[in-house]
Amino acid sequence: MKILLTGKTGQVGYHLERSLQGLGEVIALNSSQMNLEDLDQVRATIRQVKPDLIVNPAAYTAVDLAEREPALAMRINGEAPGVMAEEAKSLGAAMIHYSTDYVFDGRKQGAYTEADSPNPQNVYGSSKLAGEQAVQAAGIPHLILRTSWVYGMHGKNFLRTVMRLAQERDELRIVADQFGAPTWSRTIADTTAHIVARLQASANPRSAGIVRDSWDQFAGVYHLTAQGHTTWYGFTKAILNHSSILKKPLVTPIRSDEYPLPARRPSNSVLSCERLIDNFCGLPGWEKALGLCQE
Ligand SMILES: NC(=O)c1ccc[n+]([C@@H]2O[C@H](COP(=O)([O-])OP(=O)(O)OC[C@H]3O[C@@H](n4cnc5c(N)ncnc54)[C@H](OP(=O)(O)O)[C@@H]3O)[C@@H](O)[C@H]2O)c1
Repeated sequence: MKILLTGKTGQVGYHLERSLQGLGEVIALNSSQMNLEDLDQVRATIRQVKPDLIVNPAAYTAVDLAEREPALAMRINGEAPGVMAEEAKSLGAAMIHYSTDYVFDGRKQGAYTEADSPNPQNVYGSSKLAGEQAVQAAGIPHLILRTSWVYGMHGKNFLRTVMRLAQERDELRIVADQFGAPTWSRTIADTTAHIVARLQASANPRSAGIVRDSWDQFAGVYHLTAQGHTTWYGFTKAILNHSSILKKPLVTPIRSDEYPLPARRPSNSVLSCERLIDNFCGLPGWEKALGLCQE
């Protein structure tokens, strides 16, 4: 099986390039090899590579900047995945696409399931929802994996920001009224690889191509996050507890309106992952995964 992986420099893409090895030939690309802003280049690259499976973690992820660059966010997050899905259709390929908790408005009491209606509150969330819809509309075997609050030791993320600020400041004032599940990028990649292995399990390891029946049977949206939930404040306290750094600043909880940002965030973006757990595999608790990441 030939796997085309986008965004290999990203948090999730970095681990996917490693986790997908052994499931097939992985052709991992960065943004200069395939720029999602250039839809013709996306088409041409896929036609040249002829993958059996496209795995697309590449995205415009600058949530606040997206408010000022809505057209660019929509091209990368909304249109490019649609082009990938169309190309996958003509090749008879499958696609795994990643999406976000920010497709929800945060007003629900309790965890969001895949049956809940999205209602994004910011440009980033709207562009990601457009990408989901474009992939679904293509009528190909696909998985859309919605995740949340991604962190890891690679790339730009909340964990690394807290570790840096802890060295620079005596006090960190952190939002304590938004609830979600911090998810290690490696958990997302390893779970993805596990799912692909399960879907391909009936294939002759030497045979090329996807096992169409099992992909069709399990196609759709799944929530994929660490289990349990916390706030950014709780996440910060846990990061500092697990960390070996000696200097630990005071952490003060604040409300979202005390830290205004250009993009509105949902106050509750906890996702229920029961569908994925029932169909494929378990997921780690957020604090356990954080401990492993910081080991
Ligand atoms: N980060 C989060 O907290 C979070 C939360 C929920 C869902 N998600 C979703 O999870 C997925 C993975 O996110 P992540 O945190 O791994 O993202 P990330 O670390 O921000 O990486 C984004 C990746 O996309 C690539 N990219 C950006 N613009 C591109 C373009 N024009 N053409 C080609 N590639 C481009 C980047 O390449 P360069 O390095 O070359 O720019 C990078 O490899 C995304 O679908 C994201 O929407 C993320």
